Amino acid sequence: MSKEHNFQPKIIGIICNWCCYGGADLCGVSRFQYPPHIRLIRVMCSARVDMLHIHRALTNGQDGIFIGGCHLCDCHYVTNGNFNAYSMVQVFRKLLKHIGIYPERLRIEWVSAGEGIRFANFMNEYSDELIKLGPIGKAEGINQETLAFKLEAIKRIIPYIKLVITQRLHLSERTEEAYHKFFKSEEFDRLFDELILDSLVKSQITLLLQKNNLSTGEIAAALGLSPSEVSKHMSDSSKQGLVRFDLNSKSYAIA
Ligand code: FES
Repeated sequence: MSKEHNFQPKIIGIICNWCCYGGADLCGVSRFQYPPHIRLIRVMCSARVDMLHIHRALTNGQDGIFIGGCHLCDCHYVTNGNFNAYSMVQVFRKLLKHIGIYPERLRIEWVSAGEGIRFANFMNEYSDELIKLGPIGKAEGINQETLAFKLEAIKRIIPYIKLVITQRLHLSERTEEAYHKFFKSEEFDRLFDELILDSLVKSQITLLLQKNNLSTGEIAAALGLSPSEVSKHMSDSSKQGLVRFDLNSKSYAIA
């Protein structure tokens, strides 16, 4: 947690036009106070927020990203887009956790146009939380180069993650209870590990190998994995034709 004095987190709030923006507007009209270091971006629906937007915000040094939408089941579009936004956030928070970034840096909440005070409360609470956490990277003990590397590894698999979300993490029952239950379940953890985590590790390995040919031990040391875990990933990647083993240097290289 942050021990820095006067740290003001950089926060982006991406909020939907129909409800949360109305709540923010009412908050202003009602003169409820919230920190000035939060920058708001209006989108038509929380479902408009893409993983690439979150990635870009984090890469550009934002300490927190707040997504605000209509209450679940109150989205103004027939697809109930805020359920999609909720799913995407749960997956991205898990990705952040796996690269060593506090998942609390990404937050999603629901605010109606009549809830100015609720909006102000969320902003104040979120800002306080981020102040306690500290600056991104530094607070987690990750240097900027490593953070950029890990975020780049995520970026490369975003199209695949989107497919996983729509094909494998889509719930037919669109209720708040069903979504909360599923994303807290062991089933979600299992699917995440099986479908996304492996790809994230492979993405990191590929990125490493683009700079230098590396042995199993060197990859393991760079990513904090055991040599047997690396061997398994290398075996899969070799079969897929992504990497090759160079017998002379006894190291892996991009195929
Ligand atoms: Fe507000 Fe979809 S219109 S979340």
